Order: sequence, then C-alpha cells, then structure tokens
Amino acid sequence: MLNTKEVINELKNIIDINTISAVTISNPIKKSEGMAVKAKVKPVTVKGELMYQLSSFVGDKVYHRNITPSEIIEKIIAVEENNFKQCDIKANIRCAVLMNKKKQFTITGIKENKENTPNPQHNNAKNYILSDGEYVDCMYRLVLMDKEGHIHSHKQKKFRQLNKFLEMLSDVENEIPEGSTIVDMGCGKSYLTFAMYHYLNEVKGKNVEIEGYDLKKDVVDYCNSLAGDFGFDRLKFYCRDIADIDNKDKKISMIITLHACDTATDYAIYHGIRWGCRVMMNVPCCQHELFHQIKNEDMSVLLDYGILKERFSALLTDAIRAEIIEIMGV
Ligand SMILES: C[S@@+](CC[C@H](N)C(=O)[O-])C[C@H]1O[C@@H](n2cnc3c(N)ncnc32)[C@H](O)[C@@H]1O
Repeated sequence: MLNTKEVINELKNIIDINTISAVTISNPIKKSEGMAVKAKVKPVTVKGELMYQLSSFVGDKVYHRNITPSEIIEKIIAVEENNFKQCDIKANIRCAVLMNKKKQFTITGIKENKENTPNPQHNNAKNYILSDGEYVDCMYRLVLMDKEGHIHSHKQKKFRQLNKFLEMLSDVENEIPEGSTIVDMGCGKSYLTFAMYHYLNEVKGKNVEIEGYDLKKDVVDYCNSLAGDFGFDRLKFYCRDIADIDNKDKKISMIITLHACDTATDYAIYHGIRWGCRVMMNVPCCQHELFHQIKNEDMSVLLDYGILKERFSALLTDAIRAEIIEIMGV
C-alpha cells in the first residue's frame, strides 16, 4: 500500500509523462449531485505545446481544464483521492491505480503498452488546427462537437472547411499585426468567425479584433449573444449591407468572405482594396451579375446552354475580380 506521496513518486518513476495518451478516473466513492461521476485526461496541443486536458463529468455537464505535463501525475492522483476508487492510465505502460477506503493506493496490472498512440507533438499525421477529439468550448457550444470534442457526423464537412480556412489563415498570419481588425462580410451563422477568433486570440495569443457583418438581424443578435457568452470581447457582429460598411478609422489587416452572395463579394473586394488590407480571402458564391449581361453570337455553343453559361459567367466574374485586384496592386 502506498500513501499519496509514494504513489505519485512511483508513477513518475514508471511513466514517461510525455507519452500519456488516455486516463480514466472512475468508480466514485460518493455519488451526489454536483460531484463528478468520472474524469478523463487526454493530450492536447495549446500554442504548440503539449498539455493535458482534464475533463470532469458532473451531471450532464463536462468541465475542462488544461494541465501542464509536469503537474499531471499530481493532478490525476488528487482527483482520484478526492472521490474515486480507480484510475486507468495508458502511456508508455498501462496500469491501474486503485484506492481503498483509507485512501491508500496500489498500482496494478503494469505492462508495456506497445499500442500507445503518440501524443500530438510526436504525431506525424496531418496536424489540423482544429482536431477531432480535441475539445474547444466555442465549437462545442456551436454544436459542432460533443462534450468529448468529437465532431458530430453531420458537421464533418463544415469542420473540414473550417480547418482548411484556418490552415490558409495560419500561412498569412504574419500579415495580421497585433491590434488590427479582421472583417468577415456575410458571416451568417459565423462558425468561421468564431473559429478564427479562437485560433488567433486564444491559440495564438494575438490581440486582434474581428467584426462580422450580415443582413440577417436575428442571426447577428444571436452571434453577439454567443460572443458575449464565450467571453470573446473583441468580436462584434453588425447588421449591415456589405455595400454600406465603412471602417476608415480602423487598421483593417484582412477581409474575408465565405460564400457571400453575388455582388456582395465584389463590395467586399472593393472595401479590401480601399482599406489597404494586406490579406483578402474570398470564396465567391452564386454570381448572377454577368449572367444576364453576357451576349456573344460567336460563343453561342457555350452560351446557349444555361448551365454552361452559368459556369462561364462565374469563371469570368472571378477572372475580372482577380484582374482588378492585380491592377490595384494588392
Ligand atoms: C451562404 S451564407 C454564408 C455564411 C457564412 N459566411 C458561411 O460560410 O457559413 C451567405 C451570407 O451572406 C449574407 N449576405 C448576402 N449578401 C449580403 C450583403 N449584401 N450584406 C451583408 N450580408 C450579406 C447572407 O445573409 C448570408 O448569411
């Protein structure tokens, strides 16, 4: 039997703390309202560093805290000592730590763990900015992931889209100075806007403001209330037509549009150019403007067919946009 200090020392002797892949603390001694029924630990990457996320399951809520590797063994034992009979650890070894009524510990079942999943730092697989299985509070509250950080199956496409966008954002991050403002035009439900805020301010620790604009007042009000709930105090949403936005007093480093309809993308590009933005990320959508204007007898083989004409109009629109951006020297 080991006391608290001894069990911590023994675990530190046998476990390489950088290899912990999963810990489950279970079998509560007392079960009452407000007390955790189990707790879990998993590795996460925060600002490029290995941390361990401790999740405590209380009723239908899960509370998360990030712990440094150097403190994780003490923390695991503190949680177990508080109210649990058992703790299962997967790291370079597997073992279980049992606790009796006198709060004495035994380490059992120690064996080498050849199947251990490497933690995020040692993982050569693609390093997504948002990871399936890594809890992010705002993503959970936007109902993209569950309490364990797993992406809901019907949100997988959105999740991949967000990751792709954040990946591109990370490539141009140096162009977004501290204290500057990013404007998301046609932000809609704002998954991307929240994800960008999380990435730049919470993960990267940059102090950037983000503004979202949309025509739908109810959506804008909802996004403002969510930003308040998340404590995202540098994120604000406004109900305004993209054509009417004016931010001349701010240092706007970047504009984005993700599927802003039709000419909304053109107004966004216009603002981006006149504000001298260093970065513009525009994913166009439903371009109708040229469709009704294109006429050319010689191209009837292409333009006589609605679907081909639509695609051609969209391509031509993007080509003209790219040309204008080039001409304006952005
Ligand atoms: C297809 S949704 C995309 C929403 C969000 N960016 C996304 O990708 O999830 C397009 C959004 O642009 C907004 N929008 C379209 N034209 C706009 C305009 N002229 N000014 C402001 N918002 C506009 C719509 O209300 C809608 O919410």
